[in-house]
Amino acid sequence: MKVVFAATDNITPEHWLAPLQQALPDMEVLAWQQDGPAVEADFAVVWTPPADLFLRETRLKAVFNLGAGVDALFRLPGLPADLPILRLEDAGMAVQIAEYVIHALLRASRSFDQYQDLQQQGLWQRVPAIQRERWPVGVMGAGVIGSRVAQAIAALEYPVASWSRSAKAMPGVTSFSGPDHFSEFLQRTRVLVNVLPLTAETIGIMCRESMQQLQSSAYIINVGRGGHLVEDDLLALLDSGHVKGATLDVFQQEPLPKSHAFWKRPEITITPHISGASLQENSIAQVVTKLQSFIRGEPLTGLIQRDRGY
Ligand code: GLV
Repeated sequence: MKVVFAATDNITPEHWLAPLQQALPDMEVLAWQQDGPAVEADFAVVWTPPADLFLRETRLKAVFNLGAGVDALFRLPGLPADLPILRLEDAGMAVQIAEYVIHALLRASRSFDQYQDLQQQGLWQRVPAIQRERWPVGVMGAGVIGSRVAQAIAALEYPVASWSRSAKAMPGVTSFSGPDHFSEFLQRTRVLVNVLPLTAETIGIMCRESMQQLQSSAYIINVGRGGHLVEDDLLALLDSGHVKGATLDVFQQEPLPKSHAFWKRPEITITPHISGASLQENSIAQVVTKLQSFIRGEPLTGLIQRDRGY
């Protein structure tokens, strides 16, 4: 059986092909060649794959995505409606994303930027100590990653709530679910963390209307997708002072264009989509396990449900 490996962005095929081939000794692992012929692969292992993947490789039995989010796949032409798509679950990403979110939260709530300014002025000066009740955090998304994030925050005793499609019981985390409870969730939240998958239902979810319902002096932490955030609306809310700052790992356009207004805003911290890297060893092990289960017709986790888009 043949596996085509088609990845761009931060996953460089040169570093992944040999380990993947080694992990799949009974298969032929082939690199996607941009102008090459179809290899008539049985399986594809992909990350932000080339636009013509599905137009060229028409014999695929399943696709394995080297990341949690599959939105890039859905944008490609020729994706067969019944082709099984499997995504990574955690694979070392959840703990990294939890660290990233905790860093951004603590930086705001423990006044680290203020202390940096004071240091620059040579000042030994205390700002008021933290009152946790003034820092309610709301995490949108309660899958493997969102749950890990919410629980890490709960462990530090911040008031934390999650909002997801269906209710999710987690110790120390108040669960809100569905569109009917979205406003209630926003209104009790000061630090809004986005870990949602990007789907037709979640695109643009962080817009003026939703963000202005947050408590005043709000913070935005986006580790989902750039498409979740209406970027001009964030700028307007920063200008009005309702939102005090944002830590953004994902953007409408990546790499973030040099001329983008975000670069010049000190209230925005920009990172280049690194909050949760797909770690090679974990990711390959997960792909191999899923592929073997698929071939044996065993039940699979991480299978995308096409009707909900993740
Ligand atoms: C990263 O963005 C992922 O979807 O895994």
